[in-house]
Amino acid sequence: MKKIKVGIVGCGFIGMGKHLPSMMKVEGVEPVAFCDIVPERAQAAAKQFGGHDALVCTDYRDLLNRTDIDAVHVCTPNSTHAEISIAAMKAGKHVMCEKPMAKTAAEAKAMLDVSRETGKLLTIGYQNRFREDSLFMKSLCQQGELGDIYLGKAFATRRRGVPTWGVFMDKEKQGGGPLIDLGTHALDLTLWMMENYEPVSALGSTFDKIGKLGSPANSMGPWDPAKYEVEDSAFGLVKFKNGTTVILEASWALNTVISNEAMTLLCGTKAGADMFPPEGPGVRTAEAQAAPTYHVRVNGENAGKLYLQNYAMGAAFIGDGSQPERFAGGTKEAQAWFRAVRGEAELVVKPEQAYTVTAILEAIYKSAASGDIVRLG
Ligand SMILES: NC(=O)c1ccc[n+]([C@@H]2O[C@H](COP(=O)([O-])OP(=O)(O)OC[C@H]3O[C@@H](n4cnc5c(N)ncnc54)[C@H](O)[C@@H]3O)[C@@H](O)[C@H]2O)c1
Repeated sequence: MKKIKVGIVGCGFIGMGKHLPSMMKVEGVEPVAFCDIVPERAQAAAKQFGGHDALVCTDYRDLLNRTDIDAVHVCTPNSTHAEISIAAMKAGKHVMCEKPMAKTAAEAKAMLDVSRETGKLLTIGYQNRFREDSLFMKSLCQQGELGDIYLGKAFATRRRGVPTWGVFMDKEKQGGGPLIDLGTHALDLTLWMMENYEPVSALGSTFDKIGKLGSPANSMGPWDPAKYEVEDSAFGLVKFKNGTTVILEASWALNTVISNEAMTLLCGTKAGADMFPPEGPGVRTAEAQAAPTYHVRVNGENAGKLYLQNYAMGAAFIGDGSQPERFAGGTKEAQAWFRAVRGEAELVVKPEQAYTVTAILEAIYKSAASGDIVRLG
């Protein structure tokens, strides 16, 4: 089997935590080039994951010049996704870019266009699609178990989970806060389950009230409110061509006990389904986070009675099964991606789908700023 050679741009949290460990588990894949504007990070990544002749660089163009690289993983801040992905595809590489696809819909469209022009694959790092609960719920939708789905709720809510490393609070570099950061995952899951990519309008609200106050209770450490430039919570209502409606909630800091990251709830004519534990939505305890068990609850009516059926499924364990995967779904995401790179399967996360997610998020931000409904499509 010919080896797939990979270059990674951005050796920070997600590069080191998901991409590199996940690709190491896929047979016939080898990371050969490591780029980061902070040289020590590229060196550390090469030391941990690369061979003795690995390329270490601070300018991604040096990595793209290597003709033996088949695929590039873009793991840098959001503002750089379009530039680096486009340059990589033009240099003849397939691209896996981290979520969100880009800061703006125009940038995402440019990425999509270059993928079509060059014939190079482009996918986005929506690993939540590959979690066990997501795959099960998707299979229910595909089998028509829910009937015609006309309402979706996309949840990406944290009580106090402001990411304090990197540039997450920098509006210019990231494009926004929890909506573009977490909301993108939940909305992707919801649209994928519904197979509905025809949004027509969006209405949104954003807040930065706790962001501007600060919080010593933040799970990722305190932040400086003076440097807090993005929203801390965002809410959207999206309408689709066939009338289907999606309600999106995203927060890094919100006074709520309901903390559910990258989850969806669907209501159809035959049944409804969500990803909550048997007792309903609630706080994810430290215990549940350490060894998560996934749930899908299906509700409906049968023989004149209402029912609620709970399906519990194990976490995405790795290795000897004792350690939960840091990014659940990460290994399956990598396996699916490299199957597509080998031409053995279609992409699971298609760039057209990620473009629609990006366009909706942008419309919610625009609506929040203007106070008006924003038309899409
Ligand atoms: N899929 C997920 O669940 C998930 C989780 C976290 C982050 N992310 C995404 O991953 C991306 C990176 O986030 P992170 O948490 O790893 O941040 P990070 O700050 O830990 O890592 C980013 C790295 O990119 C480097 N970098 C910045 N600009 C660069 C450039 N032009 N060329 C080369 N290197 C550059 C930085 O020095 C840093 O080491 C973001 O887009 C974020 O949204 C996705």
